[in-house]
Amino acid sequence: ATMVSKRVKRTRRWKKSVKILQELEEGCATPVEKLRQVVDAMAVEMHAGLASEGGSKLKMLLTFVHKLPNGSDEGTYYALDLGGSKLRVVRVNLDGQRSSSLEHDVERKPIPQHIMTGTSEELFNFIASALKEFAERVGDGPHKFSGSTRVLGFTFSYPVKQTSISSGILIKWTKGFAIKDMVGKNVSDCLQEAMSKIDLDMRVAVLINDTVGTLALSNYHDEDTVAAVIFATGTNACYFERSDAIIKYQGFLSTSGGMVVNMEWGNFWSSHLPRTPYDIELDANSPNPTDQGFEKMISGMYLGEIVRRVLFRMSEELGVFGVTASKLSVPFVLRTYVVTIMHEDESPDLQEVGKMMKDVLEIPKTTIELRKLIVKVCDVVTRRAARLAAAGIVGILKKIGRDGSGGTVAAGKSKIEDEKKMRRTVIAVDGSVYTTYSMFREYLNGAISDILGEEVASHVVLKVVEDGSGIGAALLAASHDPFKS
Ligand code: GLC
Repeated sequence: ATMVSKRVKRTRRWKKSVKILQELEEGCATPVEKLRQVVDAMAVEMHAGLASEGGSKLKMLLTFVHKLPNGSDEGTYYALDLGGSKLRVVRVNLDGQRSSSLEHDVERKPIPQHIMTGTSEELFNFIASALKEFAERVGDGPHKFSGSTRVLGFTFSYPVKQTSISSGILIKWTKGFAIKDMVGKNVSDCLQEAMSKIDLDMRVAVLINDTVGTLALSNYHDEDTVAAVIFATGTNACYFERSDAIIKYQGFLSTSGGMVVNMEWGNFWSSHLPRTPYDIELDANSPNPTDQGFEKMISGMYLGEIVRRVLFRMSEELGVFGVTASKLSVPFVLRTYVVTIMHEDESPDLQEVGKMMKDVLEIPKTTIELRKLIVKVCDVVTRRAARLAAAGIVGILKKIGRDGSGGTVAAGKSKIEDEKKMRRTVIAVDGSVYTTYSMFREYLNGAISDILGEEVASHVVLKVVEDGSGIGAALLAASHDPFKS
């Protein structure tokens, strides 16, 4: 009798967990009509953010980058790239030719947790000494520096209110950083000070966002690049905007040309975004509640955490995992790369899923049905992320008239002819969520076609541009070298 009732109980629990999955699917649904609403909302918010300071949750930050490097610069340039989890130090040798491969050295250093939540002084001492060690190790290279001071590009991938191309003030932290005394400080001054303390004779020529570096590198190789998007620990986009569209920048009088705008789209919000109770709880328990709403649905810092929250609910309410003391209750234990591994498990009995459950979450036994359910949860969460990301990209295309709606072509032609005339449009993409997660990539590309239609989408090229945040900063430093006229 006890056997029977056990089985009955198990079946009941199973049905309930399938119900949790169904609710999740409904909550995360992204039919193409909904995606089009997100596209429109993105384009509207872009307008609002460009119209006035604080006009939108989209900050649409000025970068003071008016021209992207064309490859005519020569010399050796350094770059520092402070990302969500790593510091990269780069040195690039430029020979004045637009070469297909740029000669460069890179060093990657993980950022220790205590540095991410300590003081600004500790952070910049860490950065400056990593740069010094690197410069000493690679030497000054075959090319001469202008004067004796070395010129540096600094990629600082957080929202910064630029005061010039080479300096700016941190508006707030995003991703995992929480160094309170840093907010409101001039980022370049902090670095400059830390460098002078250790007699490192370098000058910050440009202070940029990672999206801007990626745009610069992509444009260097392919001039059809109009925007750059990052899907990493965080997510963000930048694009080249016409000067007359940047209404809030009164001082920007020249009507020709334009400027790269750092959207900080991670903070985008719209009532059309499909939000679930898991998102609401994740936000409430985050260090930056009500901020970075789009980012919290899309980027690598959060995808694993959303999946964990769903699985935790299944385990709490229904005990489907059969153990009480698993690690499922620990926030952020389930990293997005683990989601990638489980989602892409092609073995017939989903061995990798079982292994991850055991190794990462300490759940020793999982049935094949449960493993399938876990994969399905990963799929629903990642599919929503990728399709919303696609809507964001199409929002930019719409804003700049490259969505095939005919904005860029001479009037008087039929719609079909207009679409044929749509120019090749390249979007540079980087970040491990895109480069290493093929399901994310497929869903994203699929959604772009769903929204734009095959014909228009065939003119839109998403191009992976790796290490652009660092190398692009060095390129921009070269084209803004203060020692060259
Ligand atoms: C976060 C940062 C943004 C950066 C993005 C990708 O959203 O605020 O500046 O570009 O992460 O790294």
